[in-house]
Amino acid sequence: MHWYDRNRRVLPWRARPGEVADPYRVWLSEIMLQQTTVTAVVPYYERFLTRFPNVAALACADASDVMAAWAGLGYYARARNLHACAKAVMALGGFPCTIEGLRALPGIGPYTAAAIAAIAFGVPAVPIDGNVERVVSRLYAITTPLPAAKPEIAAAALQLGAEPAAQARPSDFAQALFDLGASLCTPSNPACVLCPLTAGCAARQQSIAVSLPRKAPKAARPRRFGVQFWLTDASGQVLLRQRPPRGLLGGMTELPGTPWRAAPWTLAEALEHAPLTADWADLGAISHVFTHFELQLGVLAARVPTVQAEGFLLPVAELPQAALPSVMRKCVRLALGQ
Ligand code: ADE
Repeated sequence: MHWYDRNRRVLPWRARPGEVADPYRVWLSEIMLQQTTVTAVVPYYERFLTRFPNVAALACADASDVMAAWAGLGYYARARNLHACAKAVMALGGFPCTIEGLRALPGIGPYTAAAIAAIAFGVPAVPIDGNVERVVSRLYAITTPLPAAKPEIAAAALQLGAEPAAQARPSDFAQALFDLGASLCTPSNPACVLCPLTAGCAARQQSIAVSLPRKAPKAARPRRFGVQFWLTDASGQVLLRQRPPRGLLGGMTELPGTPWRAAPWTLAEALEHAPLTADWADLGAISHVFTHFELQLGVLAARVPTVQAEGFLLPVAELPQAALPSVMRKCVRLALGQ
Protein backbone atom coordinates (compact mmCIF):
# COMPACT_ATOMS: atom_id res chain seq x y z
CA MET A 1 0.00 0.00 0.00
CA HIS A 2 2.91 2.28 0.75
CA TRP A 3 4.35 1.55 -2.69
CA TYR A 4 0.96 2.17 -4.34
CA ASP A 5 0.50 5.49 -2.56
CA ARG A 6 3.74 6.69 -4.14
CA ASN A 7 3.58 4.95 -7.52
CA ARG A 8 -0.05 4.54 -8.54
CA ARG A 9 -0.73 5.18 -12.20
CA VAL A 10 -3.07 8.00 -13.12
CA LEU A 11 -5.80 6.34 -15.22
CA PRO A 12 -8.94 8.09 -16.49
CA TRP A 13 -11.34 5.66 -14.78
CA ARG A 14 -9.48 5.67 -11.52
CA ALA A 15 -10.70 7.70 -8.51
CA ARG A 16 -7.98 9.98 -7.16
CA PRO A 17 -6.95 9.57 -3.54
CA GLY A 18 -9.89 10.53 -1.33
CA GLU A 19 -12.45 10.40 -4.20
CA VAL A 20 -15.22 7.81 -4.31
CA ALA A 21 -15.07 5.57 -7.39
CA ASP A 22 -17.96 5.84 -9.86
CA PRO A 23 -19.33 2.30 -10.47
CA TYR A 24 -20.28 3.18 -14.06
CA ARG A 25 -16.72 4.19 -14.91
CA VAL A 26 -15.22 1.24 -13.12
CA TRP A 27 -17.56 -1.18 -14.86
CA LEU A 28 -17.02 0.39 -18.31
CA SER A 29 -13.23 0.30 -17.89
CA GLU A 30 -13.21 -3.30 -16.69
CA ILE A 31 -15.29 -4.45 -19.67
CA MET A 32 -13.01 -2.57 -22.08
CA LEU A 33 -9.88 -3.91 -20.36
CA GLN A 34 -10.95 -7.54 -20.88
CA GLN A 35 -8.53 -8.87 -23.54
CA THR A 36 -7.31 -5.33 -24.28
CA THR A 37 -4.35 -3.32 -22.99
CA VAL A 38 -4.59 -0.11 -20.97
CA THR A 39 -2.88 1.84 -23.78
CA ALA A 40 -5.40 0.65 -26.37
CA VAL A 41 -8.36 1.26 -24.05
CA VAL A 42 -7.68 4.85 -22.87
CA PRO A 43 -8.75 6.75 -26.04
CA TYR A 44 -11.82 4.53 -26.52
CA TYR A 45 -12.77 4.93 -22.88
CA GLU A 46 -12.58 8.71 -23.05
CA ARG A 47 -14.59 8.96 -26.27
CA PHE A 48 -17.14 6.48 -24.98
CA LEU A 49 -17.59 8.38 -21.72
CA THR A 50 -18.13 11.67 -23.57
CA ARG A 51 -20.72 10.01 -25.79
CA PHE A 52 -22.42 8.06 -22.94
CA PRO A 53 -21.60 9.89 -19.68
CA ASN A 54 -23.65 7.66 -17.39
CA VAL A 55 -25.46 4.34 -17.31
CA ALA A 56 -28.82 5.99 -18.10
CA ALA A 57 -27.44 7.54 -21.29
CA LEU A 58 -25.99 4.21 -22.36
CA ALA A 59 -29.15 2.24 -21.55
CA CYS A 60 -31.35 4.40 -23.77
CA ALA A 61 -28.85 4.69 -26.66
CA ASP A 62 -29.37 2.99 -30.04
CA ALA A 63 -27.56 -0.35 -30.30
CA SER A 64 -25.95 0.84 -33.55
CA ASP A 65 -24.45 3.91 -31.81
CA VAL A 66 -23.02 1.70 -29.08
CA MET A 67 -21.48 -0.64 -31.66
CA ALA A 68 -20.04 2.32 -33.59
CA ALA A 69 -18.42 3.71 -30.41
CA TRP A 70 -16.92 0.27 -29.75
CA ALA A 71 -15.75 -0.35 -33.32
CA GLY A 72 -12.03 -1.18 -33.39
CA LEU A 73 -11.83 -2.50 -29.81
CA GLY A 74 -12.65 -6.08 -30.81
CA TYR A 75 -14.55 -8.87 -29.05
CA TYR A 76 -17.85 -7.27 -29.99
CA ALA A 77 -19.96 -9.51 -27.77
CA ARG A 78 -18.61 -7.24 -25.02
CA ALA A 79 -20.40 -4.23 -26.55
CA ARG A 80 -23.68 -6.10 -26.96
CA ASN A 81 -23.49 -7.30 -23.36
CA LEU A 82 -22.50 -3.83 -22.20
CA HIS A 83 -25.68 -2.39 -23.65
CA ALA A 84 -27.81 -5.20 -22.19
CA CYS A 85 -26.08 -4.72 -18.84
CA ALA A 86 -26.79 -0.97 -18.81
CA LYS A 87 -30.50 -1.70 -19.32
CA ALA A 88 -30.46 -4.31 -16.54
CA VAL A 89 -28.73 -1.86 -14.17
CA MET A 90 -31.38 0.80 -14.90
CA ALA A 91 -34.10 -1.77 -14.20
CA LEU A 92 -32.41 -2.55 -10.86
CA GLY A 93 -32.09 1.15 -10.02
CA GLY A 94 -28.28 1.03 -9.90
CA PHE A 95 -25.29 -1.27 -9.84
CA PRO A 96 -25.44 -4.14 -7.33
CA CYS A 97 -22.64 -3.83 -4.78
CA THR A 98 -21.99 -7.54 -4.15
CA ILE A 99 -20.00 -10.05 -6.19
CA GLU A 100 -23.09 -12.29 -6.58
CA GLY A 101 -25.29 -9.37 -7.68
CA LEU A 102 -22.73 -8.19 -10.23
CA ARG A 103 -22.11 -11.72 -11.47
CA ALA A 104 -25.78 -12.04 -12.47
CA LEU A 105 -25.48 -9.18 -15.00
CA PRO A 106 -24.76 -9.69 -18.75
CA GLY A 107 -21.06 -9.73 -19.64
CA ILE A 108 -19.84 -9.91 -16.03
CA GLY A 109 -17.84 -13.05 -15.20
CA PRO A 110 -16.01 -13.95 -11.98
CA TYR A 111 -13.01 -11.69 -12.68
CA THR A 112 -15.06 -8.62 -13.59
CA ALA A 113 -17.48 -9.08 -10.67
CA ALA A 114 -14.57 -9.24 -8.24
CA ALA A 115 -12.86 -6.25 -9.86
CA ILE A 116 -15.95 -4.00 -9.74
CA ALA A 117 -16.88 -5.14 -6.22
CA ALA A 118 -13.37 -4.43 -4.94
CA ILE A 119 -12.64 -1.20 -6.86
CA ALA A 120 -16.06 0.49 -6.79
CA PHE A 121 -17.55 -0.90 -3.58
CA GLY A 122 -14.58 -1.81 -1.38
CA VAL A 123 -15.51 -5.50 -1.14
CA PRO A 124 -12.41 -7.41 0.02
CA ALA A 125 -11.84 -9.57 -3.08
CA VAL A 126 -8.74 -10.07 -5.23
CA PRO A 127 -9.69 -9.98 -8.93
CA ILE A 128 -7.31 -12.26 -10.83
CA ASP A 129 -6.34 -10.99 -14.26
CA GLY A 130 -3.11 -11.72 -16.15
CA ASN A 131 -1.12 -9.21 -14.10
CA VAL A 132 -2.32 -10.59 -10.79
CA GLU A 133 -1.71 -14.15 -12.01
CA ARG A 134 1.90 -13.23 -12.66
CA VAL A 135 2.46 -11.40 -9.36
CA VAL A 136 0.85 -14.16 -7.31
CA SER A 137 2.50 -17.07 -9.10
CA ARG A 138 5.87 -15.41 -8.46
CA LEU A 139 5.20 -14.37 -4.88
CA TYR A 140 4.27 -17.97 -4.01
CA ALA A 141 6.58 -19.65 -6.57
CA ILE A 142 3.75 -21.59 -8.20
CA THR A 143 5.47 -23.64 -10.89
CA THR A 144 2.46 -25.57 -12.20
CA PRO A 145 1.86 -24.40 -15.81
CA LEU A 146 -1.24 -22.38 -16.70
CA PRO A 147 -4.09 -23.05 -17.13
CA ALA A 148 -3.78 -25.96 -14.65
CA ALA A 149 -2.29 -23.54 -12.09
CA LYS A 150 -5.45 -21.42 -11.87
CA PRO A 151 -6.90 -23.05 -8.71
CA GLU A 152 -3.51 -22.82 -6.94
CA ILE A 153 -3.18 -19.17 -7.93
CA ALA A 154 -6.73 -18.49 -6.74
CA ALA A 155 -5.98 -20.09 -3.37
CA ALA A 156 -2.79 -18.06 -3.01
CA ALA A 157 -4.63 -14.85 -3.98
CA LEU A 158 -7.22 -15.61 -1.31
CA GLN A 159 -4.41 -15.88 1.23
CA LEU A 160 -2.88 -12.63 0.01
CA GLY A 161 -6.29 -10.93 0.18
CA ALA A 162 -6.57 -11.92 3.84
CA GLU A 163 -3.56 -9.73 4.72
CA PRO A 164 -4.58 -6.80 6.94
CA ALA A 165 -3.56 -4.22 4.29
CA ALA A 166 -5.80 -5.90 1.71
CA GLN A 167 -8.71 -6.05 4.13
CA ALA A 168 -8.28 -2.41 5.10
CA ARG A 169 -8.13 -1.00 1.55
CA PRO A 170 -9.58 -3.56 -0.89
CA SER A 171 -10.02 -1.11 -3.77
CA ASP A 172 -6.45 0.16 -3.62
CA PHE A 173 -5.09 -3.31 -2.96
CA ALA A 174 -6.58 -4.74 -6.16
CA GLN A 175 -5.34 -1.79 -8.20
CA ALA A 176 -1.92 -1.96 -6.54
CA LEU A 177 -1.57 -5.54 -7.79
CA PHE A 178 -2.54 -4.42 -11.32
CA ASP A 179 0.05 -1.64 -11.21
CA LEU A 180 2.75 -3.84 -9.75
CA GLY A 181 2.18 -6.36 -12.54
CA ALA A 182 2.14 -3.65 -15.20
CA SER A 183 5.13 -1.63 -14.04
CA LEU A 184 7.57 -3.78 -12.01
CA CYS A 185 6.56 -7.43 -12.08
CA THR A 186 6.57 -7.50 -15.88
CA PRO A 187 6.63 -10.72 -17.93
CA SER A 188 10.18 -10.77 -19.25
CA ASN A 189 12.10 -8.11 -17.33
CA PRO A 190 10.89 -7.91 -13.73
CA ALA A 191 12.39 -5.02 -11.75
CA CYS A 192 12.81 -7.07 -8.59
CA VAL A 193 15.24 -4.61 -6.99
CA LEU A 194 12.51 -1.93 -7.00
CA CYS A 195 9.70 -4.26 -5.92
CA PRO A 196 8.14 -3.69 -2.49
CA LEU A 197 7.44 -7.44 -2.19
CA THR A 198 10.92 -8.64 -3.02
CA ALA A 199 11.80 -9.81 0.51
CA GLY A 200 8.79 -12.12 0.65
CA CYS A 201 8.89 -13.28 -2.98
CA ALA A 202 9.50 -17.03 -3.18
CA ALA A 203 10.31 -16.93 -6.91
CA ARG A 204 12.87 -14.19 -6.34
CA GLN A 205 14.53 -16.27 -3.63
CA GLN A 206 14.76 -19.22 -6.03
CA SER A 207 15.80 -16.97 -8.97
CA ILE A 208 12.90 -18.25 -11.09
CA ALA A 209 10.72 -15.11 -11.21
CA VAL A 210 11.22 -14.49 -14.92
CA SER A 211 10.12 -18.04 -15.81
CA LEU A 212 6.77 -17.66 -14.01
CA PRO A 213 3.96 -18.15 -14.60
CA ARG A 214 4.76 -21.22 -16.67
CA LYS A 215 2.45 -21.78 -19.56
CA ALA A 216 1.42 -24.98 -21.31
CA PRO A 217 2.39 -24.72 -25.01
CA LYS A 218 -0.38 -23.26 -27.15
CA ALA A 219 -1.61 -24.86 -30.35
CA ALA A 220 -0.62 -22.88 -33.46
CA ARG A 221 -3.35 -20.59 -34.83
CA PRO A 222 -4.96 -22.00 -37.95
CA ARG A 223 -5.08 -19.72 -40.96
CA ARG A 224 -8.20 -18.79 -42.88
CA PHE A 225 -8.73 -17.02 -46.17
CA GLY A 226 -11.36 -14.73 -47.64
CA VAL A 227 -11.88 -12.09 -50.30
CA GLN A 228 -13.72 -8.78 -49.70
CA PHE A 229 -15.14 -6.53 -52.40
CA TRP A 230 -14.60 -2.76 -52.54
CA LEU A 231 -17.41 -1.58 -54.78
CA THR A 232 -17.91 2.14 -55.29
CA ASP A 233 -20.34 4.15 -57.42
CA ALA A 234 -20.02 7.40 -59.36
CA SER A 235 -21.18 9.47 -56.36
CA GLY A 236 -18.38 8.21 -54.10
CA GLN A 237 -20.39 5.69 -52.08
CA VAL A 238 -19.15 2.25 -51.11
CA LEU A 239 -21.20 -0.93 -50.72
CA LEU A 240 -21.32 -2.34 -47.18
CA ARG A 241 -23.33 -4.93 -45.32
CA GLN A 242 -24.04 -5.84 -41.74
CA ARG A 243 -22.77 -9.08 -40.25
CA PRO A 244 -25.23 -11.43 -38.55
CA PRO A 245 -26.00 -10.36 -34.96
CA ARG A 246 -24.29 -13.32 -33.27
CA GLY A 247 -20.85 -14.83 -33.63
CA LEU A 248 -17.52 -13.37 -34.71
CA LEU A 249 -17.78 -9.56 -35.21
CA GLY A 250 -21.54 -9.97 -34.70
CA GLY A 251 -23.59 -6.96 -35.78
CA MET A 252 -20.58 -5.09 -37.15
CA THR A 253 -20.34 -3.48 -40.59
CA GLU A 254 -18.20 -5.08 -43.29
CA LEU A 255 -17.34 -5.00 -46.96
CA PRO A 256 -19.23 -7.74 -48.79
CA GLY A 257 -17.11 -10.83 -49.32
CA THR A 258 -16.69 -14.56 -49.57
CA PRO A 259 -16.99 -16.86 -46.57
CA TRP A 260 -13.73 -17.27 -44.61
CA ARG A 261 -12.33 -20.78 -45.06
CA ALA A 262 -9.18 -22.88 -44.60
CA ALA A 263 -8.22 -22.93 -48.30
CA PRO A 264 -7.18 -19.86 -50.34
CA TRP A 265 -9.65 -18.66 -52.98
CA THR A 266 -8.97 -18.67 -56.69
CA LEU A 267 -10.14 -15.52 -58.47
CA ALA A 268 -12.86 -17.45 -60.29
CA GLU A 269 -14.17 -18.93 -57.05
CA ALA A 270 -14.15 -15.58 -55.28
CA LEU A 271 -16.02 -13.86 -58.14
CA GLU A 272 -18.96 -16.18 -57.60
CA HIS A 273 -19.49 -14.23 -54.36
CA ALA A 274 -19.06 -10.77 -55.91
CA PRO A 275 -21.99 -8.40 -55.33
CA LEU A 276 -22.25 -7.86 -59.08
CA THR A 277 -20.43 -8.54 -62.33
CA ALA A 278 -17.80 -5.89 -62.95
CA ASP A 279 -14.19 -5.41 -63.97
CA TRP A 280 -12.62 -6.36 -60.62
CA ALA A 281 -9.04 -5.26 -59.89
CA ASP A 282 -6.87 -7.16 -57.43
CA LEU A 283 -5.56 -4.74 -54.76
CA GLY A 284 -3.57 -7.30 -52.76
CA ALA A 285 -4.25 -8.66 -49.30
CA ILE A 286 -4.21 -7.79 -45.60
CA SER A 287 -3.85 -10.11 -42.63
CA HIS A 288 -5.37 -9.93 -39.18
CA VAL A 289 -4.95 -12.04 -36.06
CA PHE A 290 -8.02 -13.15 -34.11
CA THR A 291 -7.79 -15.17 -30.90
CA HIS A 292 -8.50 -18.48 -32.60
CA PHE A 293 -7.26 -17.99 -36.14
CA GLU A 294 -5.28 -15.79 -38.45
CA LEU A 295 -7.16 -14.30 -41.36
CA GLN A 296 -5.80 -13.34 -44.75
CA LEU A 297 -8.17 -11.22 -46.83
CA GLY A 298 -7.72 -10.38 -50.49
CA VAL A 299 -9.38 -7.17 -51.65
CA LEU A 300 -10.94 -6.78 -55.11
CA ALA A 301 -12.12 -3.37 -56.26
CA ALA A 302 -14.48 -2.10 -58.93
CA ARG A 303 -16.25 1.14 -59.73
CA VAL A 304 -19.63 1.21 -61.48
CA PRO A 305 -22.02 4.10 -62.29
CA THR A 306 -24.70 2.89 -59.87
CA VAL A 307 -24.68 -0.01 -57.46
CA GLN A 308 -27.65 -2.32 -57.31
CA ALA A 309 -26.79 -5.07 -54.89
CA GLU A 310 -27.61 -6.45 -51.48
CA GLY A 311 -26.36 -4.33 -48.57
CA PHE A 312 -26.27 -0.55 -48.13
CA LEU A 313 -24.31 2.36 -49.54
CA LEU A 314 -22.30 4.80 -47.47
CA PRO A 315 -20.27 7.82 -48.66
CA VAL A 316 -16.59 6.86 -48.41
CA ALA A 317 -16.01 10.06 -46.39
CA GLU A 318 -18.33 8.70 -43.66
CA LEU A 319 -16.43 5.44 -43.17
CA PRO A 320 -14.48 6.75 -40.15
CA GLN A 321 -17.77 6.99 -38.18
CA ALA A 322 -19.08 3.57 -39.27
CA ALA A 323 -19.02 0.50 -37.02
CA LEU A 324 -16.13 -1.10 -38.91
CA PRO A 325 -13.99 -3.61 -37.02
CA SER A 326 -10.20 -3.29 -37.32
CA VAL A 327 -9.92 -6.07 -39.90
CA MET A 328 -12.31 -4.16 -42.21
CA ARG A 329 -10.47 -0.87 -41.59
CA LYS A 330 -7.36 -2.61 -42.91
CA CYS A 331 -9.24 -3.55 -46.09
CA VAL A 332 -10.50 0.03 -46.44
CA ARG A 333 -6.98 1.44 -46.04
CA LEU A 334 -5.75 -0.93 -48.72
CA ALA A 335 -8.58 0.11 -51.04
CA LEU A 336 -7.89 3.81 -50.45
CA GLY A 337 -4.17 3.30 -51.04
CA GLN A 338 -3.28 4.50 -47.50
N1 ADE B 1 -6.45 -4.10 -15.70
C1 ADE B 1 -7.69 -4.51 -15.43
N2 ADE B 1 -8.35 -3.64 -14.67
C2 ADE B 1 -7.50 -2.61 -14.47
C3 ADE B 1 -7.58 -1.41 -13.78
N3 ADE B 1 -8.70 -1.08 -13.15
N4 ADE B 1 -6.51 -0.60 -13.76
C4 ADE B 1 -5.41 -0.96 -14.39
N5 ADE B 1 -5.25 -2.08 -15.08
C5 ADE B 1 -6.30 -2.90 -15.12
